[in-house]
Amino acid sequence: MTKAITARAHTNIALIKYWGKLDADLIIPQNSSLSLTLAPFYTDTTVQFLPELTHDQIKIDGQLLSTAAGQRVHTFLDLVRQRAGLTAFAQVDSTNHVPTAAGLASSASGFAALAAAASKAAGLELSLPELSRLARRGSGSATRSIYGGFVEWQKGHDDLDSQAVPFQEKIDFDIQMIAILLDPRPKKVASRAGMAQVVATSPYYAAWPPTAEQDLIAMKAAILKKDLNLIGQLAEANAMKMHATTLSANPPFTYFEPETLTAIELVQNLRNNGVSCYYTMDAGPNVKVICSAKETPAILARLQQHFPADHLLVAKPGPGVTYI
Ligand code: PMV
Repeated sequence: MTKAITARAHTNIALIKYWGKLDADLIIPQNSSLSLTLAPFYTDTTVQFLPELTHDQIKIDGQLLSTAAGQRVHTFLDLVRQRAGLTAFAQVDSTNHVPTAAGLASSASGFAALAAAASKAAGLELSLPELSRLARRGSGSATRSIYGGFVEWQKGHDDLDSQAVPFQEKIDFDIQMIAILLDPRPKKVASRAGMAQVVATSPYYAAWPPTAEQDLIAMKAAILKKDLNLIGQLAEANAMKMHATTLSANPPFTYFEPETLTAIELVQNLRNNGVSCYYTMDAGPNVKVICSAKETPAILARLQQHFPADHLLVAKPGPGVTYI
């Protein structure tokens, strides 16, 4: 029996998106990406390896998963067992402090917390870069959730150099996000399936990796200048270039829903009225507004005319992975 270890990891939202894999098994991306880790949304995961178990027991938010539903977690635990030279199965208990199915990247916080808890419970003492590379094997976006603040995932070439590095862990200017929850249903096309379909079929995909790399360079300069407007403009344009690749896939698909366009239009109208705010979105219909804390009350007041107040979640920058 090993000790039970609990780790906490926060979710992150990419300002420059990861979109498309070079290696689907190792999760090596086609482009580097950059995200902001968020304080209020996190996952707590406890792992213990127990010799008496006959299979991995995985509980998420109090629900025991079937073998099929837990397959990604089993595969991940196999990787940890292999590295640690362990054969015992594990008890995994994970709680998401993210509104249920809000499309707020619970796979990022989930696999980052699992990587930290499972590796330590298995007796591996991994450094943060090693943890980031391990989390990557669970979910690409989890690579970045090991660190707080602004985080860059350097795409690298292989398992040993595709990892996140903190770009700015302590943020000393006013930036936060408002997540607008539009549709709580599970995604129609999972990010994994969506990016695979785009890479395989969209004639526009070839333009994505080079444009994302240019956006990343510009984004890092904008962060160093603490230029919220430039950060917002770059993030918005980058997200829309990513979403353009889904419409050009075969068969075409989109993560947009009618309410997504309503939210985007509200943000554009606010901006036309002198409030600086910008939008981004991931592999789902929810919109995240990038803004300052100072302007948040004005933005919330406008958004509340269209969306229920409890569907608007304000998120400040958050920390990296911790043991609790
Ligand atoms: O790590 P995944 O498989 O959840 O993919 C994440 C992809 C995006 O959220 C769309 C972009 C990103 O960089 O987080």
